[in-house]
Amino acid sequence: MGLKLPTVPLPRGEIEVSSYSEEEIEVEAIRLQGAIRQHQRWPLETCRSIAPLTLEINRLKKEKDVFLIAHTYQTPDIIYGVADEVADSYTLSKAARDAPQQTILFSSVRFMAETAKIVSPNKTVLHPSPEAGCSLSDGITAQDVRDLRSKYPGVPVACYINTTAAVKAECDVSVTSSNYMRICERLPGERLIFVPDRFMGAHLQKALAGKKEVIVYDGECEVHEVFTGDKVREWKQRIGDNLTVLAHPECNADVLDEADFVGSSERLIQEAIRLGEEGEPDVMLITECGTAERVLAETETELNLYGACVMCRHMKATQLEDILQALTNPRSDQIIEIDSEIIAKAQRNLAEMFRLAE
Ligand code: 13P
Ligand code: SF4
Repeated sequence: MGLKLPTVPLPRGEIEVSSYSEEEIEVEAIRLQGAIRQHQRWPLETCRSIAPLTLEINRLKKEKDVFLIAHTYQTPDIIYGVADEVADSYTLSKAARDAPQQTILFSSVRFMAETAKIVSPNKTVLHPSPEAGCSLSDGITAQDVRDLRSKYPGVPVACYINTTAAVKAECDVSVTSSNYMRICERLPGERLIFVPDRFMGAHLQKALAGKKEVIVYDGECEVHEVFTGDKVREWKQRIGDNLTVLAHPECNADVLDEADFVGSSERLIQEAIRLGEEGEPDVMLITECGTAERVLAETETELNLYGACVMCRHMKATQLEDILQALTNPRSDQIIEIDSEIIAKAQRNLAEMFRLAE
């Protein structure tokens, strides 16, 4: 594999869990190593050091009836150690909406936890790392959307799900990386405003040219903006025609033009695994590193992953200790609270997303 993955997050040593026997820890460490499936980066010794934390989190989850959701970009110890559901942002918002448990712990960035609260306002939603933002959601305010509306009266506004609850409340519909094309195509009229991702917006402009005018805001993802078409072309020259390029739609147009497949984090994983199983193992995954970590864990087939992934510092802000602390005794800033008027407006936006996406 030609891919360099981020360093393994060792416990910070802030919370010590001592109530498990050596045997319980050994069994858990073996389970973790088997699930993560990167024996060199995650040796048994590392798995032993995190095992007391995963054991305690899983015990508390059961005791308190908590549903633990993790986005794909979370680290493998969270994904394979303690998560009940792992997927892309669309699937996770449905999982949050449909979970029977009264408490959801969302291990991810803040806008995703807010989305869970909007779709299930009567549940308690815990977010272990309140400081974990996102350059897209932090790059636009509700006032920015109101200004666009007065500049372009009557034009529908679609927002990427990577926005705050307050921004969603001002928009007509949210979209995600798995449905932006389908939903925007289905919006009424010949114009639409798309916020805040200018790269996804440019992709829409190109795909809908001649059918709809797309007015685009100028936000971007600090992770996906790093990739360049030049780098992809370099790898294509080096590896040859066998290389299949898979890219996330938050990348710029030059990168997307070079891609064989564009899709959400979950679709990229499925596509990489399918390629491996069908004898096309040379794959370049242009996205955050968590996607490659899941591919490595979830296929038996040998894949040659090329290029360089980029790590999202916001997504990687959460560690097992933060989850354990939020489960044990959440601070007020770890409990998602949203004004009821904003919830009601944002709910209409997300209901429209579910309607148009299915
Ligand atoms: P996905 O919906 O594809 O998981 O994307 C969310 C995200 O923030 C990607 O950067
Ligand atoms: Fe936001 Fe980009 Fe990080 Fe996704 S990868 S959470 S879009 S900063």
